[in-house]
Amino acid sequence: DHGYGPDIDHVLLSEEQIRDKIAELAAQVTADYAGKEVLLVGVLKGAVLFMSDFARALQIPTQMEFMAVSSYGSATSSSGVVRILKDLDRDITGKHVLVLEDIIDSGLTLSWLLKNLGGRSPASLEVCALLRKPDAVKVEVPVKYIGFDIPNEFVIGYGLDYAERYRDLPYIGTLKPEVYQ
Ligand code: PRP
Ligand code: MN
Ligand code: MG
Repeated sequence: DHGYGPDIDHVLLSEEQIRDKIAELAAQVTADYAGKEVLLVGVLKGAVLFMSDFARALQIPTQMEFMAVSSYGSATSSSGVVRILKDLDRDITGKHVLVLEDIIDSGLTLSWLLKNLGGRSPASLEVCALLRKPDAVKVEVPVKYIGFDIPNEFVIGYGLDYAERYRDLPYIGTLKPEVYQ
């Protein structure tokens, strides 16, 4: 576990649970997009591990693009005002776009992103998120594919960070309170 063991409070989702869920999501997406080519849009940096495992589990051809976004000015994304740090490299007009996110927390990042991408005339635009927190239901974000609904606690691992650490953990867990102090 990369030496992170002493920082971990408990494991919320094991490697095996994540792998099984990705296989399930990938089977659904493979069926829904049969005969089409899909453009996966990963939201940096959290979605990187999910995207690489998900793309390998799909049985249809996909292409990959990435976007990096940041909330404007403040430390949290709760303002809902988002700034593009890295845009897509290509035009998505006429493409079947599937946005991949690691987690939907308030939903504000994704709701902004969907408006932005929706304005670029894709043939279709859907979201696949590995995790969703209860607060996300307060913001209207249409999400077609969801891995797990999780409790409202701070989670790290499998792409999710605390101060840029723990993204490389193969499972999803919580941190001991003293790690935040
Ligand atoms: C996290 C997470 C989602 C977003 C969810 O990203 O990866 O992208 O926050 O929050 P929201 O639903 O409240 O908007 P973060 O901004 O921490 O960047 P990162 O992916 O680089 O860690
Ligand atoms: Mn993110
Ligand atoms: Mg983060």
